[in-house]
Order: sequence, then structure tokens, then C-alpha cells
Amino acid sequence: MFDDRPIGIFDSGLGGLTVAAALNRQLPDESLCYLGDTARVPYGNKSAHVVKSYTHHCARFLQNKDVKLIVVACNTASAYGLEHLRQTFNVPVVGVVHAGAELAIQTSSTKKIGVIGTRATVQSQRYAEILRELDQTSQCKAIACPLLVPLAEEGMVDHPMTEALLREYLNDFSDYPMDTLILGCTHYPLFEKTITKLVGKDVQVINSAPAVAQSVMANLSERHLMCPDKSGQKHEFYVTDSAEEFARVGERFWGQPLENITHVDLQIS
Ligand code: DGL
Repeated sequence: MFDDRPIGIFDSGLGGLTVAAALNRQLPDESLCYLGDTARVPYGNKSAHVVKSYTHHCARFLQNKDVKLIVVACNTASAYGLEHLRQTFNVPVVGVVHAGAELAIQTSSTKKIGVIGTRATVQSQRYAEILRELDQTSQCKAIACPLLVPLAEEGMVDHPMTEALLREYLNDFSDYPMDTLILGCTHYPLFEKTITKLVGKDVQVINSAPAVAQSVMANLSERHLMCPDKSGQKHEFYVTDSAEEFARVGERFWGQPLENITHVDLQIS
């Protein structure tokens, strides 16, 4: 048995492309149908009910594209909308928060774990809850870094201003001797090199994208829904704002030029 329908994946913007790139690497035969809600990014400074309703719109769009599984490649949307999507849609849904937390617990010796994320993700306390479920002894300190998503969306990755800002944010961990730091936003792997340099060699930095790809693979193979070869493979990208801007900045997240980008309006789709 196999299923050559695409894997659906969405984020508020470009960040989910870091997860899409990991899926493409680890599941090279699968087709991907990506939605970036670029007209409404960032989600991370919106209230819980707004994030939940945007999350619903994105999943509905992907379900209408007949995807075989939906990856919520956004921590903010996973923190507030995952349970709702699982209860509402008739498609399996995989989020990013659990995968990142699990990898952090496996990686950490001291179980003193740091998280950086959007303001909404930090306020949700989802990471602390899941880390505690996975290991009662774990400790979690989460810091909101609200300016990083706009910088990533602008492609300002190697800018000195970005490094200065990261230094300022990470300074909040100076009184917290963590050995593991979770990048709790799918935009942040773009800054991984600088973050790794700033936190120093005693702190392991966790990008959850490969762990998410593993959990998608496990889900599909368990249900015998993997695609057997790449003969019919097609990646499609949908955005709610400018396709040109998405192509320009997104290349950096996806790792190669982006093609097949279509503008959509989620209100009427
Ligand atoms: N990539 C999203 C996340 O992981 C960014 C959130 C936002 O749009 O602020 O949370």
C-alpha cells in the first residue's frame, strides 16, 4: 500500500520552510504542499484565539488540497491550535513543539533546558508542560524574542544588528546554567550559527526540524502511506501575500530556488 498525495505543511510565513527542507531531505520521494500565511505573519504577537482561528484557516486550505498529513511547522500555531486541528480535521496532524522537547530531553544531561520563541509560544508555557511530561525533573526557562521573526522574514540573517539583538536576548539566560537550548520557533534555525556561537560550546542548540521529519516518517510508514518513488513528485508553495517576496527571501530557508509559488486568499478558498 502507498499514497502519493502530498504532505501538507504550513507556517505563518517563511519559517516552516526550514521544516520543509528537512522533510525534503529525509523523505526525498514525497511531494510537499506548503502554505505560508505571509499576509498575517507574525502570529507570535497575536492573542490565542486569533492564532487558533488562523491555524484553522491554514489547515482547512491544506485539507482541501487533499494532503495525506498536515505538519504544523509553526511553534506558535502548534502551541495554541494543535489539539483543535486534531479534533476538527480528518487528516493526521503533526506539530513541532513535542518533537523539539523530546529531542531536548534526549540531548540534555542536566535537564536544565532553555527555550527561545515568540511571545505567544512563551506565554502558552507549552514547552515547560511537555518537558515536564517527558521528564518530571526537567527545568525550563523560556525567553520571548519577538523581533527575530521580522528580521528573518526580511532576510537580515548575518546583519550585525541581528547579532547584537541576539546577544541582548540570550543575556537573559546568564543566571540560568542550561546545557540545552531549544530553537522554539521555526524561523530561528536561520540564526543557528550565531546563536551557537553566543551560547558557547557547553550548550547544545536544538533545531527541531529533523525530529519533526522523523516523526512524519514514522507516522506515514506505520500507516503504509509513504510514496514509493519520486516519479510523480511535485512541490507546491502557496502564500497569502507576494509570491515574489516569498521567492526572494525563501530561497535561504529552503536551500534552493523556490518554484511553483501561487498566491491564495484564505478567506475565500
Ligand atoms: N515560525 C513561527 C513559529 O515557529 C513564527 C511565528 C510568528 O509568525 O511569529 O512560532
